[in-house]
Amino acid sequence: MRVYTSNAEISAFIAAESHTTFSLGFVPTMGALHAGHLSLVKAALAANSLVVVSIFVNPTQFDNPSDLEQYPRTLTEDLKLLETLSKTRIIVFAPTVAEVYGAETTATTFDFGTLESQMEGKYRAGHFDGVGTIVKWLFEVVKPHTAYFGEKDFQQLQIIKKMVEITQLAVTIVGCPIERESNGLAMSSRNSRLTIKELEASALIYNTLLSVKDKFNSEASQDISKWVQTQFSNHPLFELEYFQISESETLIPIQQKNLTKSYRAFIAVFARDVRLIDNIALN
Ligand code: PAF
Repeated sequence: MRVYTSNAEISAFIAAESHTTFSLGFVPTMGALHAGHLSLVKAALAANSLVVVSIFVNPTQFDNPSDLEQYPRTLTEDLKLLETLSKTRIIVFAPTVAEVYGAETTATTFDFGTLESQMEGKYRAGHFDGVGTIVKWLFEVVKPHTAYFGEKDFQQLQIIKKMVEITQLAVTIVGCPIERESNGLAMSSRNSRLTIKELEASALIYNTLLSVKDKFNSEASQDISKWVQTQFSNHPLFELEYFQISESETLIPIQQKNLTKSYRAFIAVFARDVRLIDNIALN
């Protein structure tokens, strides 16, 4: 499997591969790959002749230095997993921080409007500027036709669509369904930091979202939010950071339910210092 760490080398390789029938898929990741990432790579392989997977733990999207430090880095295992899908049609791009940012590891400021002022944007200062900065940089280097992102980070998916609109980069963004553990926990690289007890109990998160979906047609959203708070209040393992029902496109929090619009419920929960997020389409 080809693994590039330099911008110039991967750009030269991709330029040499390009021809009229060539279609390039791209899956940006921070590594510690799991079945969720592999489902994105499979979708990319099914629709493109070549797929670039980037593996880069992006410092500018972390608001918490200890989260950045503890983020799992498993390049050798990641490459083995990718090789189970294809040894010839996947190219890995794993740049260093210096290759991406040069001397100054700072993010560009974007205006993502209503998309950034809440949930992940509200609780993780600067997070989406960091995401926008790295994804824009990667798109400019890799120049993919299509890029694939998981709906687990649904707010990120909307932010990236907005970033592409703002920057007018010629890339199509595809959102892919959330992959789940057998108990419903959304797959995440951070799950590897959970204890067995926390993993078992984590079924509560998805089960809560399923109940929210059941309640959505018949109950007021304020009552549903209160009910979610009670599910987590005084829980011995989990602390609720936020629960929010929002319009799917704008992410503006629901006021008056209007069933001609599409809504999603979003949740963020801490298990000690491990932060877990999930979401579900409600209608
Ligand atoms: O979703 C992620 O893993 C990251 O936010 C991304 C899109 C690779 C940017 O660093």
